[in-house]
Amino acid sequence: MARVEPSGIDKNLTRYGDTEFSRYLRKAFLSSAGYDGEDLDRPIIGIADTSSEYTTCHRDMPAMVEAVRRGVTQAGGLALAFPTLSLAETQLSPTSMLFRNLMAMGTEEMIRSQPMDGVVLLGGCDKTVPAQLMAAVSAGVPAVSLVTGAMRTGSWHGDRLGACTDCRRYWLRHRAGEVDREEIGEIEQSLCPTGGTCMVMGTASTMACITATLGLMLPGGATPLSGSADRLREAVTTGRRIVGLAEEKAAPLRFLTRHSFRNAAIVLAALGGSTNAVIHLIAIARRAGIELTLEDIHDAARETPVLVNCKPVGTGYMEDFHQAGGLPVLWKALESRLDPDAANVNGKSLGEILNDTPPPAEWQDTIGTLQKPIGPAGALVVLRGSLAPDGALIKRAAASTDRQRHRGPAAVFESPDDVAARIDDPDLGLTPDHVLVMRNAGPVAMGMPEAGSLPIPAYLARQGVVDMVRVSDARMSGTAYGTVVLHCCPEAAVGGPLALVRDGDMIELDVENRRLDLCVDGEELSRRKTEHAPAPAPDRGWRRLYARHVLPAHLGADLDFL
Ligand code: FES
Repeated sequence: MARVEPSGIDKNLTRYGDTEFSRYLRKAFLSSAGYDGEDLDRPIIGIADTSSEYTTCHRDMPAMVEAVRRGVTQAGGLALAFPTLSLAETQLSPTSMLFRNLMAMGTEEMIRSQPMDGVVLLGGCDKTVPAQLMAAVSAGVPAVSLVTGAMRTGSWHGDRLGACTDCRRYWLRHRAGEVDREEIGEIEQSLCPTGGTCMVMGTASTMACITATLGLMLPGGATPLSGSADRLREAVTTGRRIVGLAEEKAAPLRFLTRHSFRNAAIVLAALGGSTNAVIHLIAIARRAGIELTLEDIHDAARETPVLVNCKPVGTGYMEDFHQAGGLPVLWKALESRLDPDAANVNGKSLGEILNDTPPPAEWQDTIGTLQKPIGPAGALVVLRGSLAPDGALIKRAAASTDRQRHRGPAAVFESPDDVAARIDDPDLGLTPDHVLVMRNAGPVAMGMPEAGSLPIPAYLARQGVVDMVRVSDARMSGTAYGTVVLHCCPEAAVGGPLALVRDGDMIELDVENRRLDLCVDGEELSRRKTEHAPAPAPDRGWRRLYARHVLPAHLGADLDFL
């Protein structure tokens, strides 16, 4: 007779060496919260709650927990919310990315270890959603992702504002002397007017769209704004649906295929989405045992024009995207390119979803079509060359056209702190033609902060310079822009070529031909290599574990044993 897998209250019993005692004790303690036999006979749905007073992007989350609970109860389940690590993008040092895998581990173990037939993953801010997806894939429990949604836009002197593309735009103007201290203070108060995630097509928005495209979020779940009625309705529907998935035992691997990842890569390109999503997608695919490489991302981008008019690539915001129909309408515009068999947690295939979805409407200008795109194909380009033998990434859609073929002398900075200390020093004698190189900011060095869009030196900004070629082993915010080459692999901390660059070396960038080269002969580089000493590893704790086991960016920066 086939063994029946324990479910509900019997799942993952605490081990006391007496199963009946374990069950009895568990029920006794749950009874203390007022639950009775009728409650405890139901499928148990966990709600992974990432509320935190530090994570202001999630400040509308308590209402969402209650909305999910309502849906779960209506569908016959018992909802139990539990806290997990919460990663606030702007509040963590040196970077939230250092803790993505820690959050993934913690969330996975809480899903795996508690009585839970299904889980709603309530996230939003940049690293929370990828961490939760990695966790759910590894835990193998039915899961639906639900995000808090984006903020509404703000306004200053009639200018519509969104975090954080406009944060950067005004900060550059402040450094250039065009916006004074009082004005930048007013702007600071206007950039983030509500709860919710950054309202441009940054990493949070990109990951929400990618999650739904992978099939792990309901089709309409990516774009409703935080705190809106649409967002709360999405939460209730998610609560209802997870109970069905739990009964079907439909874990994430049922939805994740090579084709769903290819669909996600196409959508990433059409969004003009965040470079960070590349790392996260590769990490999630790796957890699912599906091969996804930088070349797959490049190929998808090469064939896909930008179809969404959102900052930093375009001019609009997430609320415009939502009002124009949101992600399903974008899928419709891409219908001929996407695999229609990809399955969604709502129980339908993408093809079935698109049968009921209208094309982009005439009245709006936020979602384009393949015939009338918002921008050309090739938003993301994977570069290779002597400075990045294992690959580097540039968001061409957000780079200056006249800088994409460039040869210039290197100005080398040893770390983000070194940039902060010296970038504005006029004695460096930097010109717009210099290539700003920053190293020791990769995964091993410090968890890969979003420091790759180095500030333009203030004295050049005051002359009207708004972009320079920048090269590093760091990441950059999905909300940032400029001719910024990121994720150089191998990173400097493990002896990659970036570690060997000296001030004045010529660097050549050729985006069209996908090249990034250090123009120094091989013999000299070999000599410099003998002088390079690896940085010491952190001496204890998570940071030591991370530095010893993190994979390079082009492999997703997960830990090698996960
Ligand atoms: Fe949380 Fe941007 S800081 S989404």
